[in-house]
Amino acid sequence: MKDTLILGIESSCDETAASVVANGRKILSNVIASQADFHEQYGGVVPELASRMHVEAIYPTIRKALSDCNLTIDDIDAIAVTYGPGLVGALLVGVQAAKGLSFVSGKPLIGVNHLKGHIAANYLCFPELEPPFLCLMVSGGNTMIVEVRDYCDMKVLGRTLDDAAGEAIDKIARVIGLGYPGGPKMDKAGQGGDVTRYSFSKTHMKDSLDFSFSGIKTSALNLINECKMKGQDIDIKDFTASYQHHIASILCDNTMKAVNMTGIKTLCLAGGVAANSFLRAQFESAADKNDIVLRYPKLGLCTDNAAMIASCGYYEYINGARADLDLNAAPSLVFE
Ligand code: KG4
Repeated sequence: MKDTLILGIESSCDETAASVVANGRKILSNVIASQADFHEQYGGVVPELASRMHVEAIYPTIRKALSDCNLTIDDIDAIAVTYGPGLVGALLVGVQAAKGLSFVSGKPLIGVNHLKGHIAANYLCFPELEPPFLCLMVSGGNTMIVEVRDYCDMKVLGRTLDDAAGEAIDKIARVIGLGYPGGPKMDKAGQGGDVTRYSFSKTHMKDSLDFSFSGIKTSALNLINECKMKGQDIDIKDFTASYQHHIASILCDNTMKAVNMTGIKTLCLAGGVAANSFLRAQFESAADKNDIVLRYPKLGLCTDNAAMIASCGYYEYINGARADLDLNAAPSLVFE
């Protein structure tokens, strides 16, 4: 039987990406034009500059994704594009490109929720993985526990009520001078550090699977200021190790609660923070103890990419979803 080929397009933040995926599972090409080095000088993503860079990169990126697998748009079955959540100007570039391509080629257009895309990254790495499973989705702007009942049927069981775990890491990385992007830099800085040396506040959400990270961030800031006032140096290795271990333990405790509540024993991690080695170590150990099948995408598929959008778009496509040419960017797209 002929493969179903989906062209995925992603531009929700600072990566312009395009990819071709067969049957939702096999990556034929995966092109990412990252702006991270450019935004580093500003200490974070500058939305207007990100939009302009997407405009420059979008068509060369799509062309490369097709030529890398010797295909043309005529060979593609459908075009899947991230339409939210994300930066409005950045999203608009991908959405407009996808709509233009869909209009001239006559290929169906599929709008993809970026967060559902992150979950689908696991399908690209684990051919045997099928719903139902639980997924902890931890990215720069979102933290949630999702029950994936079927490919297109998901329910959010818990979510952060304030900051995302990624934000809590990025902000403290900036304050201690690690720069941008903070996540990978803090991960590296904490390797081999003493995870018990510094302690931070823990917010318990009684009878709930929700998270709160703003108090932890504040307690880290207070600790840094206190040390400064006392003229003491912070040991960056131990501090970053303790902080990441602390955040990972909150994520892990709540996710294990969800496993116990639902009885679902297959657990996936997804999103940029799923690349964190402290997080992975804690989940590996909890999975071992609780007899859980744990899956997480390889590093390059945890952070933003278009292969995950093509994979998610494939399942939406075979489920009958179609977007019109009035598809618009939805910066605050919700995920229930
Ligand atoms: O999923 P993603 O690429 O973009 C969003 O959709 O948000 O996630 C970006 C987040 C950033 O907060 C970044 O610092 C974090 O993922 N990140 C990490 C690591 N690699 C990326 N955080 C902790 N440890 C890492 N190794």
